[in-house]
Amino acid sequence: MRMYDCISAKKAGRELPEEVIRYVVKGFTEGTIPDYQMSAFLMAVCLRGMTKAETLALTMAMAESGDMLDLSPIRGRKADKHSTGGVGDKTTLIVGPVVAALGVPVAKMSGRGLGHTGGTIDKLESFPGFAVSLSEQEFFAQVNRIKLAVMAQTANLAPADKKIYALRDVTATVDSMPLIASSIMSKKLAAGADVIVLDVKAGSGAFMKTKEDAAALAEEMVEIGNGAGRQTCAVVTDMNQPLGCCVGNILEVKEAIGALHGRGAEDLMEASLALAAQMLVGAGRAADYESGWKLAEGALKDGSAFEKFCEFIEAQGGDASFARDPEKFPRAAAALEVRAEQDGFIRSMQTEEIGMASLLLGAGRETKESRIDLTAGIRMCVKLGDCVSKGDVLAVLFAGDESKAAAARARLLPAIEIGEKPENRNGHVLKIIR
Ligand code: URA
Repeated sequence: MRMYDCISAKKAGRELPEEVIRYVVKGFTEGTIPDYQMSAFLMAVCLRGMTKAETLALTMAMAESGDMLDLSPIRGRKADKHSTGGVGDKTTLIVGPVVAALGVPVAKMSGRGLGHTGGTIDKLESFPGFAVSLSEQEFFAQVNRIKLAVMAQTANLAPADKKIYALRDVTATVDSMPLIASSIMSKKLAAGADVIVLDVKAGSGAFMKTKEDAAALAEEMVEIGNGAGRQTCAVVTDMNQPLGCCVGNILEVKEAIGALHGRGAEDLMEASLALAAQMLVGAGRAADYESGWKLAEGALKDGSAFEKFCEFIEAQGGDASFARDPEKFPRAAAALEVRAEQDGFIRSMQTEEIGMASLLLGAGRETKESRIDLTAGIRMCVKLGDCVSKGDVLAVLFAGDESKAAAARARLLPAIEIGEKPENRNGHVLKIIR
């Protein structure tokens, strides 16, 4: 087989057999296929797309390029969730404890990630002492004991995806439906859960800008998951504004603690309950979505989800007194209010730009080597449709110094559009794909 022919066939729009896709993935991962040929291949996929069979083959080849985690030492049906990435998304911190409090095992591997804030792992490290590098045995034992553990993604989880993603990132080949679907699903399949619930974001802060594209991506991923023998479903959620109010690590942890007490923004609660409900149904703990939702709500109301969160923080060496008294978390050195420059209604938000403002504040990583400022971030004081007067506070920016806050303000202010009339708003959950 020659890589030249594989590129040529894809360029002509032909369907590639599974063995060809496996040859490409293996060759590139092992270094026998060079970057320039793989780049051409990826661009051909971007322009020509892939059939469902090709996408499944690509996913399996990437998943099997490294360790396939065997979660069978954990009792019960293991549930996992994954978000395609959005601004202010802290749902894992809420959904994990809710579902675990109801007896469903959640064995979650999380990445650190690049972007406007840290990943779940970084957020959890806001708790002094919290350890994320568990051995497999410790991970399994903790889930068996308390139903919830989160560990850092091992280096050998879908290494082919890691290498391919790095190339996509610099060759303008990220935004391809089959490449995104296979990238995400390869890691999920390798992580071993029986039940996978996907949160596919749609809007100005997401890869997929429209509900239709997000639904198509969700359907593709659900098909891959089910095709690989895992019970998979997806919730398409709105990302035309940051989820909840806060963007930034400690700020989001504090917001999640509030949500675990039932005090969260409407969109954050809706997303969390929808995801939890689907995980409960998938794991056989709830008969249907509505009863899953009610069970999840009950776990928030009776305090069991919050207690599970504290137990989980302690089990991984963290100081749970910070969860019981969030005022103990350190605060940023500088705070800057961003005020409305006119009267009107909040008509739209360029959510990606709000994420970039958060990055400028120091809340995220630009490169793998960047250091995160856990105290940095944004507290949004408005949601879409809100009525504001000139001088009202739209957001508060938190940073290590005032110059960062000023730079972020310049990025954030134009990202919030104020108009004369309010827009009609949909609910936060746009579609459920079972
Ligand atoms: N997240 C991933 O893991 N891969 C993609 O391609 C896009 C988002």
